[in-house]
Parts: sequence; structure tokens; C-alpha cells
Amino acid sequence: MASQMKIERMIHEEGSGVNFGAHISNVDLESASDTDITILAEAFYKYQVLVLKNQQILSPRAQYEFTERLNSAASMGHGNKHNPKRFLLSPDLNTVPHQPQVQIIGNGFVPEHQGAKNLRLQYPHHRSSHPTTIADEDDVEFTRFYRWHIDAALYDDAPPVATTILAVTLPKRRMQTVRYDDGTGDELSVPLGTIAFAKDKAFVRSTRVEYAAHPYIWMGRAKSHPTGLGLISEGKELDDEQLPPVDPTSIQILPMCWRNPVTNRLALQVHAAVARRLHLANGEVIDDLERVRDILYRLQRPGIAPQLVYAHDWEEGDFVIFHNRGLQHSIVGSLAEDEVRIMRQCIIAGTEMPEGPEEVVL
Ligand SMILES: [Fe+2]
Repeated sequence: MASQMKIERMIHEEGSGVNFGAHISNVDLESASDTDITILAEAFYKYQVLVLKNQQILSPRAQYEFTERLNSAASMGHGNKHNPKRFLLSPDLNTVPHQPQVQIIGNGFVPEHQGAKNLRLQYPHHRSSHPTTIADEDDVEFTRFYRWHIDAALYDDAPPVATTILAVTLPKRRMQTVRYDDGTGDELSVPLGTIAFAKDKAFVRSTRVEYAAHPYIWMGRAKSHPTGLGLISEGKELDDEQLPPVDPTSIQILPMCWRNPVTNRLALQVHAAVARRLHLANGEVIDDLERVRDILYRLQRPGIAPQLVYAHDWEEGDFVIFHNRGLQHSIVGSLAEDEVRIMRQCIIAGTEMPEGPEEVVL
């Protein structure tokens, strides 16, 4: 059956260097055909962020099945059977009771949503993870990137290909200014509670990044750089003996650049907060954590320059699909307790590890 789907490249404001994003319309995700999924998967790799408006009626089941189908379409040709049970979930998150692969995130008190009752959602605020913070009196007007990241366990499971998020309920729209607070004076005006996306242009072809074992436990006490990019080194990471038992085969050493299987373009995809060592092409291993972080910061900071960041302006019903292997993203903003927000998010582990450059240049 022919698809009626419409794909329109996003128009960004003048002066913006953002070169990704597309709007998708004329497709019913509750009953998408295989042809629709194939077209969507291609658009997903080409544009990195897809936005579908007015998806309020999308059921958690349809969101899960769609995310799963997109993952399967994405790994076509690799012959691996996808294991749909491996969804990414942290135990402190709320889930939809009848569709536990879909998480409920947001802010404020929610008496009931999709059968989940008395939810006290808390939007992450940079004060919980940054060493310095915006003064309380400026907190309404100014904010920071919470933490740039990839949605990935980076221990055992392969990084998810797509993350999907549906905006169910949003607080009244207002603007905030993101301060970089790194001495550059950089700022970015964003809608409240945006999710920010950035794509790095640097090509670092031959180095691999070793991620820490139990990475999020390991760095749980460490603080972010004020730009939300990577961590500052204060010796707060846990020692091996403080971690749960480590399975050495679960430790991931991944290329710095991940290749888009459709466009063949490389993206600098490093989750700097959980990176532990660098393996250089000449066999040298950089083990000094502060040095590892300095190198990664220098490589990644240009990619989050204000003109390269896409800050999505959420409207209720927006369904956003983003390429988790081609972009980094960050939560942004500070919501008051009465600014209720409900989002549904689905993230499923990939079937195989991301591929690096086809030809490694030594
Ligand atoms: Fe995320």
C-alpha cells in the first residue's frame, strides 16, 4: 500500500547552524504499515529528529510497538533477532502499569495517568548535579543544560537506536535563558523544559572510548561541568571494590565516532560523563581520568555552541523520535512544583553495537 506520509525538513531560524530535524505528518502510528515504517526509518537516519504533531491519542502500546518496530527496521540486514525485553529503565522511574516499557516522566503531582496513581514527578534540576548553580532569584529566568548524554547503559546492553517521547501535558509556555557559565558568555534562549539536541561535527576516526563498569553507579556522586558536558574530576568516582561485581565482558570499548548506516556520516558520540579511558590507534591507553575528560571536553564543546543546538518547543501531543546514535541531548530548565508536566518515554536497547568509521585512518 502506498504511503501518504509527508516529510518536511525543519526550517531553523536565521543564523542557526542546526542541520537536522524534520516534521512528519499524514501517518497513523497506531496502524502504521511496513511501508510507513521503512520510510520513517529512512527519514529518522537522514534527519535525526522527527516530530509528529497532535499524537495525544497515541496509546502506550502503540508507542512501545512503534519504538520496537523502528529498532527492528534499523537493524535490518544484520540478521540478529531483536530481544524486545531489553528496554532501558532505571528502577526509580514510574512506568505505565499495562505497558512497563513506557516510562512516565515529567514534573509535579499527577493524581492518575494511564492507571498509575499519585505520581510525584520531579523534573531534574541542575542543582542536583552541578558544582555551582544559578542563584535562586535568577532560577525562573535562567537555567543550564542538565547533562549532555546518550540514552545508553554503556555496560552490557548495546546503545538504543531510537528514543521516543510523547508530550501529554505541559505547563504554560515561557522562555528561559540557558547559561553556559564556562567563561565564554555563551547563552541560548529556550522554551521552558525543552530537550536540547546537538550534533558534533568533529571527526575523530581512530580512537576508542572505554566506558566504566556499572557506569552510572561509578559516577553517581560526581558533578557536571556547568555546560552539562562531562564531569569535573574531584575524585568522587567509586573504586572497583565499591561497585557491584564486575563482569569484564560487559565493559564497552566503543569507537568515538559512530557511523550512520543510511547516510554513512560519522557522529562524535561519546557519553563523556561515563567514559573511563581512551584507547588510541597506536595502542596507547590514556588512563588518567582528568586527562580523558579534558580531551573529550575539548572535542565536544564546539558541538554545543548556541547556534548548533536545537531546543524543541514542546506542544501537547508532540511525539518526538530521535536518533540516539547520532545526537547528544540534554534536559534543560527549572520547573516550579505547580508546573505539571507529563511525558511518556520509550527507550529499547539496540541489538548490536554501533559501528565506527569504515576505514580507520591511523
Ligand atoms: Fe535522555
